[in-house]
Amino acid sequence: MSILEKTFTSAPGRAISRKAGLKDPPRLRRGRTWPSGAIIHGTIGDGSLVADTLHLLGRAVEEPVVDAGTDAPGYGQKIGALVVDATELTSISQLERLRALLRPAVRGIERSGRIIIVAREDHDGWEAAAAARALDGINRTVAKELRGGATSTLVWVAGDTTASDLLTTLGFALQGRSAFVDGQAWKVASTATKIDDLVTAPLAGRTVIVTGAARGIGAQIARVVARDGAEVIAVDIPPAGEQLAAVANEVGGIAIQLDITQADAGAVLAQHVAQRGRGLHGIVHNAGITRDKMLVNTDTARWESVLEVNLAAQMRINEVLLDPDTDGGLDDGGRIVGVASTSGLAGNKGQTNYAASKAGVAGLVIAMSSDLASREITVNAVAPGFIETEMTGKIPFVQREIFRRSNSLDQGGRPVDVAETISYLLDPGSQAVTGQVIRVCGQNLVGA
Ligand SMILES: NC(=O)c1ccc[n+]([C@@H]2O[C@H](COP(=O)([O-])OP(=O)(O)OC[C@H]3O[C@@H](n4cnc5c(N)ncnc54)[C@H](O)[C@@H]3O)[C@@H](O)[C@H]2O)c1
Repeated sequence: MSILEKTFTSAPGRAISRKAGLKDPPRLRRGRTWPSGAIIHGTIGDGSLVADTLHLLGRAVEEPVVDAGTDAPGYGQKIGALVVDATELTSISQLERLRALLRPAVRGIERSGRIIIVAREDHDGWEAAAAARALDGINRTVAKELRGGATSTLVWVAGDTTASDLLTTLGFALQGRSAFVDGQAWKVASTATKIDDLVTAPLAGRTVIVTGAARGIGAQIARVVARDGAEVIAVDIPPAGEQLAAVANEVGGIAIQLDITQADAGAVLAQHVAQRGRGLHGIVHNAGITRDKMLVNTDTARWESVLEVNLAAQMRINEVLLDPDTDGGLDDGGRIVGVASTSGLAGNKGQTNYAASKAGVAGLVIAMSSDLASREITVNAVAPGFIETEMTGKIPFVQREIFRRSNSLDQGGRPVDVAETISYLLDPGSQAVTGQVIRVCGQNLVGA
């Protein structure tokens, strides 16, 4: 446990929280762990996508037990997860079946259990569109009503999405890796890439650049992608050189002291990749800064520095790494992951510059993803909420306690939660996930 984690779970911290009438937050299940109770497979209509995917995952699955008297589905025990195949949902009346499936699960789900709804939003007709959108409201509300660190997720699929396309997503959503992703919805499309197994080192033999890797979330991204097999190129500014070297050594990667706003930053990175001769699978644009002020006090320097580091520099680096003539550029089938922020998606007082840059990241990945589809390069972003880092550790205690509890899981997330989501997006098996912005915020009330 890091010093930071000790601080936010410290006895004095807990004592003050209790005095204020706040309960201890639930301890979240993390890592490559599965629900301990039964995984229940519920269906609306006769779609088989979820059944096929659960089969590939190799987890034991149970069907709901139907009460003979009332015909209502039930589970008869504390369950680990309910995964509902709603891919055939096209009418408002079918939502009643979902209510009946969810009701006993909300009551009987274990701590850190999972509710996952898999559905399509591309069925024809007005009613189908309305029913699909209703699922979004259901997912967000169920996430708020669940207790004990249990979460709810909605996964949109297309008519031609296969079990292979859905495999890493369902695996991620069920595992503890998604601990702080709650009440979110994102899309899994379809691809020609076929996988039939969830592997524990999906990045083995692949090189991934992580910017801002000297500390905080970036250092944890380096650790998690290294755990998942990648060779890490860790990048940070020269003043952070010592910490950067320590992280690179720890993960067996290499350190590059580089200010990403330098005009030749992309070329420098490509040169290092080319020297190693192993290609480049992915880049994680994690480096970021804040220069907070109310807009009336925001001068050009604060504006430009934030937009430069958080957005423009990434775009320039991408352009170089995506140029087919660049030696050491991104491989076809590669991955780009940006780091946005819930502040960018929802807006946050005193952060116009930061919100502009982070909303810009979301815009960038959406636009780039369609342009790069023909090269099978996926482009996604994560949007962290309140994460326990040195940056947020500087916020005064009471304010920090309010921020960290302003979400459905009653606690701040950890850098590892952001890192795990990024590693899922970097996974070669996540080929069908592109143009998505996934919030890692415990369903932060800000813009939730
Ligand atoms: N901590 C949170 O709660 C939170 C919430 C939402 C989003 N984020 C985002 O997550 C990312 C990481 O946040 P963190 O909390 O770990 O921040 P941090 O300040 O602890 O780490 C950021 C790292 O980026 C590096 N960096 C800054 N400018 C750079 C440049 N020009 N070139 C190279 N490296 C540079 C810094 O030296 C530092 O090591 C940032 O993009 C941040 O905006 C964080």
